[in-house]
Amino acid sequence: MCGIFAYTGEKRAAGILIDGLRVLEYRGYDSAGIYTAGSSAAVRAVGTVRNVADKAARLTGTSGIAHTRWATHGAPSEKNAHPHTDCNKSVWIVHNGIIENYKKLRERLTEHGHSFASETDSEVLAHLIEEHMKALGNDFEASARAALKEITGTYGVALMHKSLPGTVITARMGSPIVIGIGSGEYFIASDPTPILHHTKDVVYLNDGEFALISKKGYTISTLDNAAIERIPSTIEWNIDDVKKGGFEHFMLKEIIEEPEVILNAIRGRLVIEEGLAQLGGLREVEDKLAGIKRLVIVGCGSAYYAGVVGKYMLEEYAGIPTEVEIGSELRYRKMLFDEETAIIGISQSGETADTLAAIKEAQRKGVMTLGIVNAVGSTIARETEAGVYNHAGPEIGVASTKAFLSQLSVLALFTLFLGRQRDMSPVMGKRIAEELLLLPGKVERILNDRERIRTIAHKYEQTRDFLYIGRKYNSPIAYEGALKLKEVSYIHAEGYGAGEMKHGPLAMIDEAFPTFAIAPKDSVYEKMISNIEEIKARKGRVIALATEGDMTINEHVDDVIYMPKTLEMLSPILSVVPLQLFAYYIATARGFNVDRPRNLAKSVTVE
Ligand code: G6P
Repeated sequence: MCGIFAYTGEKRAAGILIDGLRVLEYRGYDSAGIYTAGSSAAVRAVGTVRNVADKAARLTGTSGIAHTRWATHGAPSEKNAHPHTDCNKSVWIVHNGIIENYKKLRERLTEHGHSFASETDSEVLAHLIEEHMKALGNDFEASARAALKEITGTYGVALMHKSLPGTVITARMGSPIVIGIGSGEYFIASDPTPILHHTKDVVYLNDGEFALISKKGYTISTLDNAAIERIPSTIEWNIDDVKKGGFEHFMLKEIIEEPEVILNAIRGRLVIEEGLAQLGGLREVEDKLAGIKRLVIVGCGSAYYAGVVGKYMLEEYAGIPTEVEIGSELRYRKMLFDEETAIIGISQSGETADTLAAIKEAQRKGVMTLGIVNAVGSTIARETEAGVYNHAGPEIGVASTKAFLSQLSVLALFTLFLGRQRDMSPVMGKRIAEELLLLPGKVERILNDRERIRTIAHKYEQTRDFLYIGRKYNSPIAYEGALKLKEVSYIHAEGYGAGEMKHGPLAMIDEAFPTFAIAPKDSVYEKMISNIEEIKARKGRVIALATEGDMTINEHVDDVIYMPKTLEMLSPILSVVPLQLFAYYIATARGFNVDRPRNLAKSVTVE
């Protein structure tokens, strides 16, 4: 949610900042802006970073701060775009997060004569620093510390003062900040991807930390100025991972990467002959996990739906009662945990505020916390006691695709791991492990059939509404399929457990309201066929996703897309792929930028 990027060194900052913002645009793209040292104004524009780039040509400073916005307080407009400044245009700030007490602060500062240029919560920080500078003998650093202490809510900030060119202050509370270490130059960003273009050496700030940075070096301290030592870490990703590599959209590139993504999730983690999963990130908590009697999975968006599939896997094959909760719900409910419960946070970014808050609350209650996270070094990865990384590489498309597949693959490994600690037989374990190994090839087969999916998608591109239905393991995939379609094509789509059709959704069905039915040959196939019949009897058009070789389904539906056979528990890993492609082709046919759907952002670091 909002991306911030800052630079200090010897090169012209504006170009570096613009390039950095371009990489961060997936976090927010309703307006953008930059400030560089020596200027008395920032350049800002509504829309994407491209709109700022031209205006930035006149900026010559060798340090600066930049921001790409996803609006929380105040509509997207030039005046609400960051960087914000104080009354004297001396203090410059970019902020990611929400200042919860901004109204009170704004009232107080207004009484003291400050006038505000925007409707944002962020602007109060610039004025608050200005106010403290009056009392603290113009000491920018001390005033920044004092101002940040007064803020409640969340922030990742980069701050500059006009009279201190070359100095950038950054601090974090709840919104991620990573510092890239170059030679004689430093970068500050909301996530490591824009830093990768310059260096792989980074330090991650923790909540409550403050860093003072110039081209000569950096110091990290608490807001009270107690020094903190932090050993830098190295980013694992490569620069090519964050480029489109010839594809028109990241979304398609990331779907095409899915066979490799599954391989990366399972590589080195299966002992086929013994039917075991070895998960290095769980080694230290292996014994504790053996005593766990209940699991609570928490996630948002697609990660939540992956969690629902995970629940079915874990209950059927590991015999562990599992609940799945949406982060924003769980964090405000009474959580009933005991010492035999573990909570698992699923998150691609590792930064989703609601998922993180639920994990932290569980942690406060002494509950074991685990993470299934893609972004190495992210907050959820660091806050949880143990976990499993996805190794899916960076996902740039806002609508999750490859990360979702990877989450399902890791959940299957996790089920194998916990199942074999309990009653799962080596034979069953071996079966799951062998099937997992076959999945990349099977996904490849679906991808090779994508022209057919495109043709079918084009038949339905003008549809206003869509229903997605599935049962058992594939009912969460119906929800995910509907989510993908609405996210990228803005078509109203609903996901339903097929058995629920008769309790409401059937009323909506007519010739203009098509249904996507996920109907592989599994234990609920016959039930699905009955549900499809109910829809056909109401003149509804149906696209079926069926198992290769199922010719009889043709008699019941209008269009069929085929997927290879696999174990029922693993079928979501295959069935979601055509649904992702279907959404992609409909959205691109309708002319939308699928990588950046309107009103959305990839990394939701605010509530
Ligand atoms: C946003 C993204 C979704 C994603 C969700 C959870 O809404 O657009 O694609 O599923 O956040 O993100 P996380 O990083 O926690 O998996």
